[in-house]
Amino acid sequence: MLHIVLFGPPGSGKGTQSEKIIEKYGLVHISTGDLLREEVAGQTELGKKAKAIMDKGELVSDDIVIRMIRNKLEENQNGSGYIFDGFPRTVDQARGLRKALTDYDDRVSVMISLEVPREELVKRLLKRGEETGRTDDNLEIINNRIDVYNRQTIPVTYYYDKMHKHAAVEGTGSVNKIFDRIVEVIDKVKD
Ligand code: AP5
Repeated sequence: MLHIVLFGPPGSGKGTQSEKIIEKYGLVHISTGDLLREEVAGQTELGKKAKAIMDKGELVSDDIVIRMIRNKLEENQNGSGYIFDGFPRTVDQARGLRKALTDYDDRVSVMISLEVPREELVKRLLKRGEETGRTDDNLEIINNRIDVYNRQTIPVTYYYDKMHKHAAVEGTGSVNKIFDRIVEVIDKVKD
């Protein structure tokens, strides 16, 4: 099975590239941001707790997120693999993912991190905020999300470095050009 972690700061293009990867490789998409937004929209207890945290640009607790991932793995056992978008975001989440996949005798194939300069991230997210009204796409929260990424999420790259699974990809330029770079990485680990 092909299990890809698509990693990168807010606005680096994880969602955009996930769509193209799914189309080409037929993977199941698991985005913790989308799952949390569904809980918020459904006004569930989890959603109410998560909304306050997401609106500040902080991270939802590892326990909650790992539980959501385990449920998704349980539901989708017969696909050709997963793309994890926006997860793991802490080293404990990365360990949680490893344990969860081990239960299925499986493991992450590659972790692809999209590298985009901060000013470009801010520009993209401000534009999306204007176009879609996403509540965490305003300057103050965007800056906090990037700071949280630098502080709490970057260590995940060292975790996958140690396992020789981390591939950095330049995340600027056209969407198709970036996708070509990603495909090059995936095709090396695919078989
Ligand atoms: P999440 O939904 O994961 O948001 P994020 O990481 O901030 O990522 P974004 O969706 O903003 O960006 P993206 O990298 O997917 O880029 P996209 O393709 O959309 O998380 C939201 C919140 O949920 C977190 O802050 C946290 O509170 C919580 N959360 C989620 N997961 C969690 C976890 N695992 N643990 C704890 N808490 C968690 O692109 C962005 C914009 O740029 C789009 O408008 C797009 O059209 C544009 N764009 C894309 N590519 C290009 C390009 N090449 N050139 C120009 N524009 C481009």
